[in-house]
Amino acid sequence: MKAVIPAAGLGTRLLPMTKNSPKEMLPIVDKPAIQYVVEEAVNSGIDDIVIVTGRGKEVIENHFDVAYELEKVLEERNEEEKLNEIRRISQLADIFYVRQRLPLGLGHAVYMARKHVGNEYFALMLGDDIILARKPCIKQLMEIHEKYGASIIAVQKVERKDVSKYGIVDYEEVEKGVYRIVDIVEKPSRSEAPSNMAVMGRYILHPSIFSFIEKTKPGKNNEIQLTDALKLMLKEHEIYAYEFEGKRFDVGGKLDWLKINIEIALKRKEFEELRKFIKDEIL
Ligand code: G1P
Repeated sequence: MKAVIPAAGLGTRLLPMTKNSPKEMLPIVDKPAIQYVVEEAVNSGIDDIVIVTGRGKEVIENHFDVAYELEKVLEERNEEEKLNEIRRISQLADIFYVRQRLPLGLGHAVYMARKHVGNEYFALMLGDDIILARKPCIKQLMEIHEKYGASIIAVQKVERKDVSKYGIVDYEEVEKGVYRIVDIVEKPSRSEAPSNMAVMGRYILHPSIFSFIEKTKPGKNNEIQLTDALKLMLKEHEIYAYEFEGKRFDVGGKLDWLKINIEIALKRKEFEELRKFIKDEIL
């Protein structure tokens, strides 16, 4: 299975950090955000990835490429551990890039990948969502996909006050944690929301989604919304939702970006002192 990672967004919620740096390259402890998403795909057995980029995103390509001069210097200095890590990044997967020339919305960004994806189910992984889980989230979805042979969307319940930040599904339970989607609405108001079950940026999609995107008119924020295309698709195809296991961070916003940095750092032995620092000097 191939994976599509849209990385063309402007990152306005993270300004000024993202004035001149792509949000996908912001560090989470010591790795850029997008590397976590690529590694989630790779750890799920996916090695063919298309990243949808845009203006100013060239550094993403360089990050996953060979850094010859750097490797040479590290080699001369016998910094083997760093060298191995740098090399590993350039060998993670076959990564292809396609540019979204205009910021016309998530649905439009996904559409840019249609020729690379072809006629097979594919994984769609949004770079703003980083999910820490025992089993990679997209792998969990792939397993449900195998069982049901249909498109699957990752969901989690959110607080009612937050429904307007997400795609929200109306659903019928088919087994514990698996739901058949009855309706889907992009960023509804609290009163319009059919539930509090929210779409969390991981999807396994049937390739017919591309023809539904073609038929989708601009929606919320005047953008071509993936959710609206999914709503059209629902009329002809079954789509399931899966309440995955894992903790999701919206690293397209400042608060979750801070939280995930702390969470990951506190798990690492080398940063042991951080816990003490927070306890003794901050709290
Ligand atoms: C996108 C989708 C939305 C989904 C969200 C998950 O919105 O349009 O349906 O719930 O990702 O992060 P965005 O956050 O890009 O505005």
